[in-house]
Amino acid sequence: MRSDYCGKLNSSYIDQEVKLYGWVHRRRDHGGVIFIDLRDREGIAQVVFDPDRPASFTVADSVRNEFVIQITGKVRRRPEGTINSDMATGEVEILGYNIEILNKAKTPPFQLDDTNVHDDVKLKYRYVDLRRPEMQNNLRLRSQVVKEMRKYLDEKGFLDIETPMLTKATPEGARDYLVPSRTHPGTFFALPQSPQLFKQLLMMSGMDRYYQIVRCFRDEDLRADRQPEFTQLDIETSFMDENEITVIMEEMIYLLFKKIMNVDLPQPFPRMTYTEAMERFGSDRPDLRNPLELIDVSDLMKTVEFKVFSGPANMEDGRVVTLNVPCGNTLSRKQIDDYTNYIAQFGARGLAYIKVNDIEAGVEGLQSPILKFLPKDVITNIIERTKATDGDLIFFGADKTKIVNDALGALRNKLGHDLDLLQGEWSPVWVIDFPMFNYNQDEKCWDSLHHPFTAPIVEDIDVIKENPGKTLSRAYDLVMNGTELGGGSIRIHRAEMQSAVLELLGIGEEEAQEKFGFLLEALDFGCPPHGGIAFGVDRTVMLMTGSDSIRDVIAFPKTQSASCLLTTAPSKANPRQLKELGIKLAKSNKPE
Ligand code: AMO
Ligand code: AMP
Repeated sequence: MRSDYCGKLNSSYIDQEVKLYGWVHRRRDHGGVIFIDLRDREGIAQVVFDPDRPASFTVADSVRNEFVIQITGKVRRRPEGTINSDMATGEVEILGYNIEILNKAKTPPFQLDDTNVHDDVKLKYRYVDLRRPEMQNNLRLRSQVVKEMRKYLDEKGFLDIETPMLTKATPEGARDYLVPSRTHPGTFFALPQSPQLFKQLLMMSGMDRYYQIVRCFRDEDLRADRQPEFTQLDIETSFMDENEITVIMEEMIYLLFKKIMNVDLPQPFPRMTYTEAMERFGSDRPDLRNPLELIDVSDLMKTVEFKVFSGPANMEDGRVVTLNVPCGNTLSRKQIDDYTNYIAQFGARGLAYIKVNDIEAGVEGLQSPILKFLPKDVITNIIERTKATDGDLIFFGADKTKIVNDALGALRNKLGHDLDLLQGEWSPVWVIDFPMFNYNQDEKCWDSLHHPFTAPIVEDIDVIKENPGKTLSRAYDLVMNGTELGGGSIRIHRAEMQSAVLELLGIGEEEAQEKFGFLLEALDFGCPPHGGIAFGVDRTVMLMTGSDSIRDVIAFPKTQSASCLLTTAPSKANPRQLKELGIKLAKSNKPE
């Protein structure tokens, strides 16, 4: 048996004999003495072998990086001048008595402390990459997070209930991963995009409070905070309204941050309506650490001659906003051009600006290519409204509302990071009062903003039908530092309303029956009012560990193109299997 983990040793162990197992992190030969940095899950300890014990010295001399070894020895204080205060075990070392090689290792594909390794190599040899202390810490913290979530929910009377992985499509807005059925040729299971429908059925079953730490599958474009399979903390409750649900969820998140990070989040978390978030930050997941805000100046621009501004100012779905950047007038022409190019990806056609050099000097104290297009009173009003002062720079965005919000919202985030403007470390906010529906210009139909089972605030179906675009839903998102950590809603619990909403979404009765007939039927057999939420476990851990991507907190993640470089999945199916499944590959889709 191992006596201790390497990383746990400290001066209280001095003079004790220890038996350690681990990997050779580094082996150094210092003038006849061999030093081995021995690494295990908990950290690294330095083991010294001297030639007085020739048998073990010879073995120690032969080990190489990443060999797996076992040693026994005695802990002693490091000699004066060799104490390493950067290392948790840096006060002590182990004088090795005995060493045994448990397994040799080839030269690893990369050194663990090499920061220049290509991502693909790290993913192919993920088990080596996971040996890095940073990755070990990430997965350890993840384990703690899940433990605390379970503990809290168990104490609150939530039941952990599993739901099927082989199931029917759940509409969460992504493509499904399909699994062919052998026993019913020509038919397919879908892997769940979320357990949404099952957790609602569990409420209809009287389970009252449900949770599950559950894998979800979504075939969608991947980004730093999206993976094709990811983990949700999925929750549903009966007889609770949105206030009651958000209060207990907020307490859970508060305690999670307190216990794991010793961070005191604000109590209560601020709440903001979707409309306010879009108006002030151009985004429904605003990073409130960022002091920059979009300030609407559409009303000032309606009558100006500059068509770039007056056009959108007079459009029903257009807006003109400013973004005042404190001390921004030091930005160079090149920097401004780079920002202009940056927001072009969101469809923005330009980025006008005014540099404020000297407020007292009036228009003379301003510098901008667009001053000539704007009347003096408009300029004065802009300065007043933006509260700009000497040294500031005012950016302008004018276009369709969606383009302005996307472009200036992203610019706000980018400026916040580039100019180091973020204040405070943690900034949670509940975003509430989302619209129920979103008009899909391409397909000329209404889409649901959340999912089709979210309840509207107004209960009158006729009112909703009359103005779907103005209908608000009982949905809520928890946003932390600009990342959507979780989202949920109160659900529709009456069949009549559910049918009306599906109809509005252009899902006819036949299609509704085919897709979720089981849910519609269940609504008629005693369905309690219910609602819930799901948190992204990967995203929560990503934020807590300060990682740039959820890939760094998932043991075996997929690449940008949704493949696994370690196992080389997805891969070709065996022809016999395909035959059994009744599947024939189209010529164009045959993998080489
Ligand atoms: P939603 O689709 O908002 O809601 O998902 C809930 C949370 O899951 C996380 N998440 C993801 N994390 C990593 N990769 C992905 N591809 C990914 N997609 C989502 C996010 C998100 O906030 N059934 C509803 C919940 C409900 O209404 O109760 C749902 O799935 O953190
Ligand atoms: P132009 O008259 O097209 O040369 O534009 C004059 C200034 O307005 C330039 O600084 C452009 O970057 C800026 N601009 C052009 N279109 C927009 C727009 N839609 N929103 C904000 N600024 C714009």
